[in-house]
Amino acid sequence: MSKETEITWHDHTVDRAQREQLNGHQGCVVWFTGLSGCGKSTVANALEQMLHAHGVHSYLLDGDNVRHGLNASPALLAPRHGHEFAERFGLSFSASDREENIRRIGAVAGLFCDAGLVTLAAFVSPYRRDREAIRQALPAGDFWEVFLNAPLEVCESRDPKGLYKKARAGELKGFTGIDDPYEPPVDPELLLDSSQATPIELAQAVFDRLVQAGKIPVDTEKSGAVE
Ligand code: ADX
Repeated sequence: MSKETEITWHDHTVDRAQREQLNGHQGCVVWFTGLSGCGKSTVANALEQMLHAHGVHSYLLDGDNVRHGLNASPALLAPRHGHEFAERFGLSFSASDREENIRRIGAVAGLFCDAGLVTLAAFVSPYRRDREAIRQALPAGDFWEVFLNAPLEVCESRDPKGLYKKARAGELKGFTGIDDPYEPPVDPELLLDSSQATPIELAQAVFDRLVQAGKIPVDTEKSGAVE
């Protein structure tokens, strides 16, 4: 029991191995990192379609979506919870709020992994230290860092949400790649150049590596074709 907090960890009767046996595959965390617009959400989405088609249980945690709920901004929280609460628990894009964003997601991803799911996480996650903290917290081999690398010019030319344009105009401060840092992984499990292949090809590359690593079974019965 932790003396500081007086809280105790309980081991449950149904454990991870049993859940994985029921699922027919192992759990893991596939962590996509890269600049906004590099294709993280698109590739993770295509990968999840492939996994689903192969009968693999998965869940996709996505930056923009999670920031609508668990990691909502102060502006989203204020109407229901009040200003003080919103400022205390709401997350912006400052370095420490990004750290907390990734810490919370890492904890959720760890639970989903323990639930036996192939957990996909698509977050800019610009700080190496924050990503490493998740790797360290998970059992060895469960964290798969996938660096979707694309030149800033390519991401900026895509600009799906018009945020690069706003950042260049000075209307959006602290935008990753423009006036906020991005620290690329030093030794990721997978490094993919997302400007040189289609999202389906990139998703297929990740899928193939997961099969090779024995994380998901090779299933010749089901097709995994993605439209
Ligand atoms: S992270 O840096 O904390 O990991 P996260 O992945 O949750 O970021 O959210 C990134 C998304 O938020 C981007 O795809 C973009 O749409 C939006 N966004 C809004 N402001 C910023 C900003 N200052 N820097 C980066 N992304 C931003």
